[in-house]
Amino acid sequence: MRCVTRAAYRKSENLHESSRKEMSENMSENMRKVFVVNGPNLGRLGVRQPDVYGKQDFQALRESCREWGRQLNLNVEVLQSDDEAETIGIMHKAADEKIPVVLNPAAFTHYSYALSDAAHMVSDAGVPLMEVHISNPAARESFRKHSVISPVATGTIAGLGFYGYRLALQAVAHILEK
Ligand code: DQA
Repeated sequence: MRCVTRAAYRKSENLHESSRKEMSENMSENMRKVFVVNGPNLGRLGVRQPDVYGKQDFQALRESCREWGRQLNLNVEVLQSDDEAETIGIMHKAADEKIPVVLNPAAFTHYSYALSDAAHMVSDAGVPLMEVHISNPAARESFRKHSVISPVATGTIAGLGFYGYRLALQAVAHILEK
């Protein structure tokens, strides 16, 4: 596997498009993979309660996370599912392949012991699992005050909007550097 430094990549701006693409692909191959996993209804960002979750849509979240990841030398894959089994399957892959996870479990936060068990497997695999919430669930309805994910998470960030994902990615990068 070839290693491409950022300086070399910047130089590549003078290269032919195909060479630049190849270098870019090699660069992301050498970046540590991180999953940003979003639970049910988060694909509806922008239209769902914009007073709570903001006006930006899921695509904007995806692009921001990928860019923040690039700045931290992380190859961020942003995923979303409304399906509990599918979300658990992503956790199994993360545990098996030791892929750190930033997880917004959405409503699964409050009742999915199955997702909690799967998230536990990620922590047990020795990689960080950061829980993120766009809103501050502790300041909302009483059913949101309890998280079944927090006890198995490396850390939790809530109430800071999309910026919480950036902080969670920084935490992942920081933990991986140790
Ligand atoms: C949420 C908070 C949850 O209570 C809610 O069910 C969500 C989103 C958040 O990001 O603030 O869907 O996880």
